Amino acid sequence: YDAPSLIRTKRDGGTLDADRIGWLIEAGTRGAVTDEQLAALLMAVWFRGLDADELSHWTTAMIDSGERLDFTGLSRPSVDKHSTGGVGDKITLPLAPLVAACGVAVPQLSGRGLGHTGGTLDKLEAIPGWRAELGLDEIRRQLEEVGAVVCAAGPGLAPADAKLYALRDVTSTVDSIPLIASSIMSKKIAEGAGALVLDVKTGSGAFMTDPAQARELAATMVGLGANAGLPTTALITDMSTPLGRTAGNALEVAEAVEVLQGCGPADVVELTLALAREMITAAGVDEHDPAERLASGAAYRVWRSMISAQGGDPDAPLPRARETETLTADRDGWLGRLDAYPVGIAAWRLGAGRARRGDPVQAAAGVVLHAKPGDPVRAGQPLLTLHTDDAALVPRAVEALAGAWTVTDEPPAARPLVLDRVS
Ligand code: URA
Repeated sequence: YDAPSLIRTKRDGGTLDADRIGWLIEAGTRGAVTDEQLAALLMAVWFRGLDADELSHWTTAMIDSGERLDFTGLSRPSVDKHSTGGVGDKITLPLAPLVAACGVAVPQLSGRGLGHTGGTLDKLEAIPGWRAELGLDEIRRQLEEVGAVVCAAGPGLAPADAKLYALRDVTSTVDSIPLIASSIMSKKIAEGAGALVLDVKTGSGAFMTDPAQARELAATMVGLGANAGLPTTALITDMSTPLGRTAGNALEVAEAVEVLQGCGPADVVELTLALAREMITAAGVDEHDPAERLASGAAYRVWRSMISAQGGDPDAPLPRARETETLTADRDGWLGRLDAYPVGIAAWRLGAGRARRGDPVQAAAGVVLHAKPGDPVRAGQPLLTLHTDDAALVPRAVEALAGAWTVTDEPPAARPLVLDRVS
């Protein structure tokens, strides 16, 4: 095949068959199709989309670009969870040990953050000593002995995605439903868990700001899972405001620990339990009530083992920022809205996130919310505290927060957190 003619086919609205797609992805991963050609192909897909057959071939080709793990043969069923990403989304931290405490093996092969949403590994790396890189044998052993593992996805899983994602990032082709769906599902199918639960976010802090598009993305991914023999369900959840009261690495770990100790913000607890119920149902394990496992401390005990097993000290004090700055309400009323996206940008600019792959992040940087939408507030009351090790980063974070919230005379209508379920 030659790449220009296949790019032209897609550009002009034609369809590509399995062999052609397989060749493009394989040769692109190897470098025989150049980055320029892949970038043009991605833009053609952004405009023209992929039909159901093309999407299935595209996803298969991405899976076939690397290795496939296999978690069958463990003494308990395995279930994986993926979130499309949001501000303050630390749910994996309490969820993985909670679901393990219900008798399910939870392999969470995760990534680092890029842009305004944090990465799970960056959060856990705020814990002194904790190690993200594990070998396959270590992962299996930890799944048997502890039940939950959160670690770095090795470069061997769907390497085509690493290549395509880097090109999408610099060519404004990230926000395409077939490209997002194939990117996420190729990695999740290659990971080899027994079932998958997706948390598809919608709202200002999400990839898919529009709920109808989030539903379409969810249905597309659920379909890809079913095709590949990976039972998949999805919850569509609200990301118009940050989850919980923290965005930032160590700040989110501390909040996750509060949840595991039976406290923590109501929205984080609600979503953790909703996803836990989906996961244990998917695993076919129903002898435990996740709310009881959380309240009894069983999930917290798994958390401690999970952190220790990866070299972390669950009792070590978490790093604290050298500088803080608090923003206050300018009038009495109710907090009407507090947008997720600007809070994510502020946390990022304070040092919690990275601009380029491989950049370091600050463990202690981030934003603490003192009020959530619907809470009454008084003039002068703290609304947000910014945390950073570098005071020079504060002004641009404050700038990002201009217009991020409103104080209203009437309480806002309550927003449900779980908007829909797709199966
Ligand atoms: N997360 C991914 O892994 N891929 C995407 O394309 C978007 C979010």
